[in-house]
Amino acid sequence: MPRVAVTRRITFNAAHRLHNPNKSDEWNRETFGKCNSPNWHGHNYQLFITLEGEPDPETGFVYDLAKLKQIVEDNVVSQVDHKNLNLDVPFLEGTLTSTENLAIGIWNQIKPHIQGADLVSVRIVETENNIVEYRG
Ligand code: NI
Repeated sequence: MPRVAVTRRITFNAAHRLHNPNKSDEWNRETFGKCNSPNWHGHNYQLFITLEGEPDPETGFVYDLAKLKQIVEDNVVSQVDHKNLNLDVPFLEGTLTSTENLAIGIWNQIKPHIQGADLVSVRIVETENNIVEYRG
């Protein structure tokens, strides 16, 4: 049977700061530059969640994308939107809030809720030039 990938885009915005508390302030400034700014900065994140599977013979769909949207709203967006990723988000606690770690955290939040198709990619567009993808 042919397998098809489907993607849902979801947007949110959040504040964060890249700072490794185990390193000196100088190391943090040199390593993270503007992203180390002490009083936070924000991004309009675009999240692309991709599932893959065979189209259902009764619907023609690989997965109900409205259902996927709801899963992402309930398990990710409700926790991160208009929040501070360093301070407010339990699933990021103890991690550096890079887009890489955000993608891994979002994967782990969504994965248990997907049945009947395979989660294959969590892609995050942080800025128009910086894009991160996690494939599990
Ligand atoms: Ni940033």
